[in-house]
Amino acid sequence: MKTENNNQRGFWGSRLGFILAASGSAVGLGNIWKFPYIVGQNGGGAFVLIYLACILVIGTPIMLAEFTLGRKTQLNPVGAFDQIRPKSAWVGIGYMGVLAGFFILSFYGVVGGWTFAYVVKALTGAVLAFPSPKEAGAFFEIFIGNTGEVIFYHALFMGTCIAIVLRGVHGGIEKACNVLMPTLVIILFLLMFRSLTLDGAMQGVAFYLTPDFSKISANVVLIALGQAFFSLSLGMGCMITYGGYLSQKENLTSSTIYVVMFDTLIALLVGMVIFPAVFAMGLEPTEGPGLVFSVLPTVFAGMPLGQGVAVIFFILLAIAAITSGISLLEVVVAYFIDQLGWERKRAVLIVGGAIFAFGVPSGLSFGILADVKLLGMNFFEHVDNLASNYFLPLGGMFTAIFVGWVWGTQNAHQEIEKHENKFGFPWAQCWEFLIRYVTPVAVGIVFVAKILP
Ligand code: TRP
Repeated sequence: MKTENNNQRGFWGSRLGFILAASGSAVGLGNIWKFPYIVGQNGGGAFVLIYLACILVIGTPIMLAEFTLGRKTQLNPVGAFDQIRPKSAWVGIGYMGVLAGFFILSFYGVVGGWTFAYVVKALTGAVLAFPSPKEAGAFFEIFIGNTGEVIFYHALFMGTCIAIVLRGVHGGIEKACNVLMPTLVIILFLLMFRSLTLDGAMQGVAFYLTPDFSKISANVVLIALGQAFFSLSLGMGCMITYGGYLSQKENLTSSTIYVVMFDTLIALLVGMVIFPAVFAMGLEPTEGPGLVFSVLPTVFAGMPLGQGVAVIFFILLAIAAITSGISLLEVVVAYFIDQLGWERKRAVLIVGGAIFAFGVPSGLSFGILADVKLLGMNFFEHVDNLASNYFLPLGGMFTAIFVGWVWGTQNAHQEIEKHENKFGFPWAQCWEFLIRYVTPVAVGIVFVAKILP
């Protein structure tokens, strides 16, 4: 029995382990925290449709391109571009990716810290003490303005990521994801039924599912595109790095489809939890980053076994954040290990520490640094905006051009079809067309439209 299990683990471990690690990277705060508030701020249903189009036409082909580049080179983004086109300007895209990883994790760790804090506050019952989201929201705002608490939990989150990446990404994490990801889905379904049965829930469903295209502008499309990249962990070589841990036999196309579908399913589900509740409780969907933290605790407070569900939900949210956080850290760490020959331990400690330090002003952006604004945005918002709305789409566009035109779809195709994996008509042609023409042009147009007044 044991031997059989071990054999099976050896076989499945590489296949499933990779899909779970990549899904773990993709499913995170982007799905559960960011997606609902961005949908809320940008008009609901119409935004969701544009987001789905971005996932299908732009995100999916780029994910396959990143996996393929990664498995071919088995390196971090800088090393990957450098191996295929040595000493060319393309290496710059790799550097932009590593920098994006640094930036994103710096504020991601702050929000990750919030989720840790909410686990504790759910355990003590503090977050469930409010009858309406207004009060729960006020509680949240006081909390994120509290310097000591925010920095403490931010450090705890980064410390956890550091501890895991120190030991390498394999092993325990993959097993944990195996249990935790399905549990997350079950809890989300449970919450969805609760939300949908609240009085007035259907207004929220209408907001979420009825497209109103008058709310759509070039800027909104750019935000949808940025969110697609962010949610799928694309545009900065995260999936290049993870693709590098992949066995040569693995089917890259089906892996891509699993990861994309899982990530999208979770985001859509979260919307069905949040918006019915938002409208049922008379809250504005345009609330912003506090949306999940103020609405859900009120839903929990009004349901049977609410405290238990709240604790489990915030633990899962924290875990989803950790499995994404480690993927961001791993990219920057892999760069220092591969390119500069650092020892893993040294790379993780120094990089992790530096990212934590750079994240401190983001952590304080809703407290003592709240009034320090440039162009109407605080430090946190600037780092997020720069990385998510500029670095990721640009990185994705150049990755598509690189794979489509420089390395060539011919070579990519060969890598994808290794070990009798089939990538035939019409999918291969479809992907080739998307990655060479549609993806770079679409990202380019959205970009120009955004920059022109
Ligand atoms: N995709 C993750 C989320 O949705 C965040 C993330 C992890 C990410 N790795 C990334 C975003 C790489 C952009 C690039 O929460």
